[in-house]
Amino acid sequence: MKLVILLSFLALCRAQHLNFDGATGKLYSPNYPGNYDNNGDVVYTITIPVGNYIHLTFLDFLTEDSYDVLTIENSTTVSGDKTGFALDIQASQVTLVFTSDLTNTFRGFLIRYDSVPVGSVYMPTNLCSSILHNSEFDIITSPNFPYNYPDNISCAFLIKVSADRLISFQFVAFNTEDGYDVVSVYDGANTSAPLIGHYSGKNMPAPITSTSNTLYLCFSSDLVTNFSGFSGLYTSFVSNNFKRGVLPQSLTTDSVAIRRDKNILDWLKKKAEEKKLIGAAAAPVISI
Ligand SMILES: *[C@@H]1O[C@H](CO)[C@@H](O)[C@H](O)[C@H]1NC(C)=O
Ligand SMILES: *[C@@H]1O[C@H](CO)[C@@H](O)[C@H](O)[C@H]1NC(C)=O
Ligand SMILES: *[C@@H]1O[C@H](CO)[C@@H](O)[C@H](O)[C@H]1NC(C)=O
Ligand SMILES: *[C@@H]1O[C@H](CO)[C@@H](O)[C@H](O)[C@H]1NC(C)=O
Repeated sequence: MKLVILLSFLALCRAQHLNFDGATGKLYSPNYPGNYDNNGDVVYTITIPVGNYIHLTFLDFLTEDSYDVLTIENSTTVSGDKTGFALDIQASQVTLVFTSDLTNTFRGFLIRYDSVPVGSVYMPTNLCSSILHNSEFDIITSPNFPYNYPDNISCAFLIKVSADRLISFQFVAFNTEDGYDVVSVYDGANTSAPLIGHYSGKNMPAPITSTSNTLYLCFSSDLVTNFSGFSGLYTSFVSNNFKRGVLPQSLTTDSVAIRRDKNILDWLKKKAEEKKLIGAAAAPVISI
């Protein structure tokens, strides 16, 4: 018992404090989308203009159930798989404390907060349109998530990361009308690329990995029946092929110029020119 008290005292001493004061913002667990550390302690304080209250949307939430806990204003505690949880906090300031115990770590969370004028009801502003996502990782959701998506919509999402990367995509919440409200995923920049799968219903689809730096998702709903839809996390990583010096087919040696390491770039260019294959469509292949 003494040990537990001492440990939690130590944890409080080195807690990290993060302050948020924009009208809207995103809270990430430490290392997100990588796993948070054991024995962690982070305090998030959100302060929005007076006359508004705070709405929280859990776009992704996965922690060790009962042990790695997010405490909201000393009262509500959240742990486990809670993607899609949403709540109103009737105050213009709130403190959230995330503590993890000494064993087992998970991905943690990405929580969005919004300011809502006192006396009005939170309305999601998640419009359905073609959206380009080009950060190294992000969350993609159906419109209004975790509230029901509209009937009769069609949305497209293009994920395009830097040229040396591939994309891993996993749904973290999934609930659509089976057979009628469908997410289609293509391994490329548009619907001409190879189809990876059509997904609908209540079962979580398997994780997906792209073969290039683009991934294209379409979501369409029919005229009746709507559910909470989906939330999906994509991350990206440097392609092993690229590391080995095999340039993706869509790249010319010049387009590789965006790479930061100039020495590697010069070396790649030189090798590519030496070994350039005959024929316009052929990609330069470099052996080490
Ligand atoms: C939460 O707990 C802290 C420390 O125990 C205390 O200072 C603070 O006033 C509490 N907040 C609320 C809303 O109870
Ligand atoms: C969802 O379906 C219900 C019942 O069919 C309908 O009244 C409602 O407008 C739909 N919601 C949206 C966001 O389209
Ligand atoms: C469904 O959406 C299409 C395209 O926006 C529109 O033309 C059509 O009228 C809509 N149908 C219904 C029944 O709302
Ligand atoms: C689809 O993407 C490919 C690769 O970027 C491009 O060459 C092609 O023109 C695109 N097709 C359409 C219909 O936009």
